Amino acid sequence: MKKTALFLSLALIGMGSALAADPAKIDWGKVPAVNVPLFYPGQSSYEWLISDAHKGAAKETKRGDACAFCHDEPDAEKDIGNNIVAGKRLEPTPVKGKNGYLELKVQAAFDDKNAYLRFQWATKSKNRPSIDYPGYRFDGKEWKAYGGPQLNADVLAGKKPAIYEDRMSIMLDDGKVPNFAKQGCWLTCHDGERDMPKLATKEEVAANPLMKAIKRADVRKYLPASRNDPSDWKTGKTVEELARIKAEGGFVDLIQWRAHRTNPVGAVDDGYVLEWRNFDAGKNHFASNMDNEKKQPKFMFDAAKFGAKALTADDFGKKDMFLIKGVNAVPFDPNAGWKEGDILAQYYLSAADAAGSAADNKGTGVWKDGMWTVVMVRPLGLTNDDDKTLKAGGVYSIGFAVHDDNITTRGHHVSFVRTLGLGAKADIEAVKLP
Ligand code: HEC
Repeated sequence: MKKTALFLSLALIGMGSALAADPAKIDWGKVPAVNVPLFYPGQSSYEWLISDAHKGAAKETKRGDACAFCHDEPDAEKDIGNNIVAGKRLEPTPVKGKNGYLELKVQAAFDDKNAYLRFQWATKSKNRPSIDYPGYRFDGKEWKAYGGPQLNADVLAGKKPAIYEDRMSIMLDDGKVPNFAKQGCWLTCHDGERDMPKLATKEEVAANPLMKAIKRADVRKYLPASRNDPSDWKTGKTVEELARIKAEGGFVDLIQWRAHRTNPVGAVDDGYVLEWRNFDAGKNHFASNMDNEKKQPKFMFDAAKFGAKALTADDFGKKDMFLIKGVNAVPFDPNAGWKEGDILAQYYLSAADAAGSAADNKGTGVWKDGMWTVVMVRPLGLTNDDDKTLKAGGVYSIGFAVHDDNITTRGHHVSFVRTLGLGAKADIEAVKLP
């Protein structure tokens, strides 16, 4: 992890400004910590929650009752997570050895410029966190996808290695999304989405008017208000109606720290959920490394800086493999003597390329002694039409998720919804920094 630390300190230099605290210098020992239990939710989609299978709770959930109204026992999260992760219900393909439960320590602070959210959790692996990402492997002729997350069918079948990045995500609302304060992230979790029941087929998506209009090839998180029938992804509203809901603030902010694709450049994603899991306008800190026309990668490693122009299968789980523009990336040379088994990164990173609303959030993550410590930095007072505006005195609904141990989609641990207050009464109270 030495290189990660170096890149982080480089990225942080640009972050200081007159009124903003340097997150590395905040005395977190003085900021109260709240332990938030996270559990493995499997396929507990919104549709399952409002069905008779959700014993005696279908009517209540449908009318918007709070999850915590019934799930209020001290060990509620532990029991639910342990049952589901073992495959007793709601999990058709249990992942061997996966934990059903995880404790997330949350601290929050703010000053005149930013909110600072600090998270700590123990990773399943005590030797090395999941900081790698699937790549492109040269098979002697073509560059093909290499590796995948643990719930991927080929990975489950042992045909591909399990490779994916750790992530820390939050969904946040300012009271404008109906029921988010009571039911949190489950409002966005539906049948038809990736790795969920009744997975939408390519053909169904291609034939769907909304998916065509927004040019999407699969179904991802969406809010009930984006559909005429909230439990049928096919019944999307028109883009005009969706634009009106968005303008009225009827979306949730989705902020994600990623161990491979954002952390090495001191960044945190900025996205939102309405009719799909969108990124904010502008340009992300990471971009695809595939030139789709030439069918070859865009960048390779600079051998002088990285020690080799490419990776091999052996490097995964051992070597830091972030491909960073301006640091260790050079344009791909098709005549560099590629051999079968050479692997290049699927994404390249660049803090300098990131722009617009997508580049609002910063952050750092350090892994030590089996634990991630992540600090997200979110500017106050954002006025973009795809951001929730944080301000002193504000109270927000917030849900937390951690992806741990080479997994994505439903393989995360999630929380029931909480409140975050910036100098205001809430479950998690952000402390005003001096
Ligand atoms: C009216 C009470 C009630 C409400 C409201 C409620 N639940 Fe439940 N939930 C239950 C009961 C009862 C069970 C079944 C427990 C059992 O069968 O052992 C259950 C089971 C579950 C399970 C399956 C886990 C298991 O071990 O069976 C999940 C996941 C779950 N609820 C999530 C939620 C979420 C998320 C919400 C809010 C959107 C919610 N529930 C709202 C009462 C409720």
